[in-house]
Amino acid sequence: MKRTHSATELTLENAGQEVILNGWVNSRRDHGGLIFIDLRDRSGLIQIVFNPELNEPAFHLAETVRNEYVVACRGTVVARSEATINPNLMTGHIEVHIAAMDVLNTAKTPPFYIENGIDVDETLRMRYRYLDLRRPEMKDNLVLRHRVISTIRQFLDEEGFIEIETPVLGRSTPEGARDYLVPSRIHPGEFFALPQSPQQYKQMLMVAGMEKYFQIARCFRDEDLRADRQPEFTQLDMEMSFIDEEDIFTLIESLMQKVFKVSNDIELSIPFPRITYDEAILKYGSDQPELRFGWEIQDITELVKDVEFKVFSGAIAAGGVVRALNAKGCGSFTRKEIDDLGKTAVDFGAKGLAWINVTENELRSPITKFFTEAQMQTVLNALDAQPGDLLLFGADQAEIVARVLGVLRLELGKRLKLYDENDLSFAWVIDFPLFEYDQEEKRYVAVHHMFTSPRAEDIALLDSDPLAVKARAYDLILNGIELGGGSIRIHRRDWQEKIFGLVGMTPEEARDKFGFMLEAFEYGTPPHGGVAFGIDRMIMLMAHRDSIRDVIAFPKTQSAACLMTDAPSEVSPRQLRELSLKIRDK
Ligand code: AMO
Ligand code: AMP
Repeated sequence: MKRTHSATELTLENAGQEVILNGWVNSRRDHGGLIFIDLRDRSGLIQIVFNPELNEPAFHLAETVRNEYVVACRGTVVARSEATINPNLMTGHIEVHIAAMDVLNTAKTPPFYIENGIDVDETLRMRYRYLDLRRPEMKDNLVLRHRVISTIRQFLDEEGFIEIETPVLGRSTPEGARDYLVPSRIHPGEFFALPQSPQQYKQMLMVAGMEKYFQIARCFRDEDLRADRQPEFTQLDMEMSFIDEEDIFTLIESLMQKVFKVSNDIELSIPFPRITYDEAILKYGSDQPELRFGWEIQDITELVKDVEFKVFSGAIAAGGVVRALNAKGCGSFTRKEIDDLGKTAVDFGAKGLAWINVTENELRSPITKFFTEAQMQTVLNALDAQPGDLLLFGADQAEIVARVLGVLRLELGKRLKLYDENDLSFAWVIDFPLFEYDQEEKRYVAVHHMFTSPRAEDIALLDSDPLAVKARAYDLILNGIELGGGSIRIHRRDWQEKIFGLVGMTPEEARDKFGFMLEAFEYGTPPHGGVAFGIDRMIMLMAHRDSIRDVIAFPKTQSAACLMTDAPSEVSPRQLRELSLKIRDK
């Protein structure tokens, strides 16, 4: 019995028609001599009915089937009576009266219900991922993912891009995470690295004259995992020649517009706002600002420099800053709630959290005693403090204060529901610094990556003040999450060598690792730039999920393992010998 229709293809218009359906038994109900089965296939559910008077053998077979049995059945589409219409089901106006059924396979009782919103341990879902993916919400995520990727492909094709695959077995790329390595059998003691991104290959494709490249690329990074990080993830990777930042912004804005329209029927308004890195860090305490609510952090270093409070004056004397967040309407917080905020602050590196509770008649605070009345008034004015507000202060090195107040802002925004979860807030973060200083390694490291071009007007600063150099880099942020990032690249050998030197590479190291790139730059490299987006993160946000694991068919756990296949696993001594590897005693 081969299917003639999928479940949800059928409508009232098919009434009277004989059809064959194939699928899984979602549920079975025996009702006064009739058996009702909700039959499920990828498209959805439909009710099928077995009546002993219509067909006795089929009815008796229906008595034996259980959830998740795989069946094929033939029957007639019938309109339901008014009273039995199920408005919650897409096919709720009809049912199929079955004349014959085959059981194609039986099934054990699944370890969890095949339905939406189940509350079971994720490890169980991962172990039985093939059952987890039968749940409609999980299936929908994969369908959404497919829809997004096919829209991207179509859009970029129309824009003149070509999709080119780049190697998975390659050389280590300096994207910042640890590499996954693959030992070479043929070259004992040598390793391939799985790509952290196709960065160098796509630049080589520009040298090769491809002009507009994209790839739905699998990337591998051995880093600490979080809800929005997987060891293996997918990027929409792009690169273009003869373009500048504006071309990238325009293209990506229309791409996002198209994708959200086709997949979620949402009209995004473009252009997206742009915010400089410095402003994002200052006002929101993060280079991935959550812009769905206000509550901007304010720098009040100048206003409090004469206040005789050691915590403030000490921080300022040490080259730090004093910043404040007006937690609007949090004046009713209890002492315990304020102490808990203080604990969070300390967890994120603060030495403490000073606060002022602004009430109708007074200021409650451990620090008001250090202020003159005029000093206090200036601060209250600057923060637009009203009765009912709670003012939170951080005093330390700018980086720590930004982080701490940024975290508190986010936590309170979420807790107090200061924004609509369904809002979408895109923004470009621009004007990143080219370098930051790594205290541990005692060297400059590239904020984006080493192939990012400095702004032409800052080139002179490379020698005198590298930390002041701005990069031609940009990130696209959606709801406080970095969706993607990219840059205009260096396309001259001398500049590239200069950057390698500044991040602490000797000329020999640079030639060893990136010789091919430096050489290629001498063969007519066009100016070029690009960007890459985390497809998993994008789908996660579109599907309103909290973890990218929910939008990846077969994800890894927090400890980078696949519970279904039990990977990674030990290999045979023979395989190790072939690879010239020996495992140290554990
Ligand atoms: P970047 O390292 O910023 O840039 O990565 C681009 C985007 O990939 C996503 N992403 C991840 N998603 C899931 N799990 C991970 N472990 C993970 N790591 C990154 C993020 C991120 O914004 N070659 C450059 C791009 C370029 O310059 O063109 C690059 O890879 O959404
Ligand atoms: P203390 O004088 O150490 O008792 O601190 C007075 C208040 O300042 C307390 O509420 C502390 O939590 C807070 N505080 C201490 N250090 C800092 C800091 N670096 N930034 C902000 N507040 C601080």
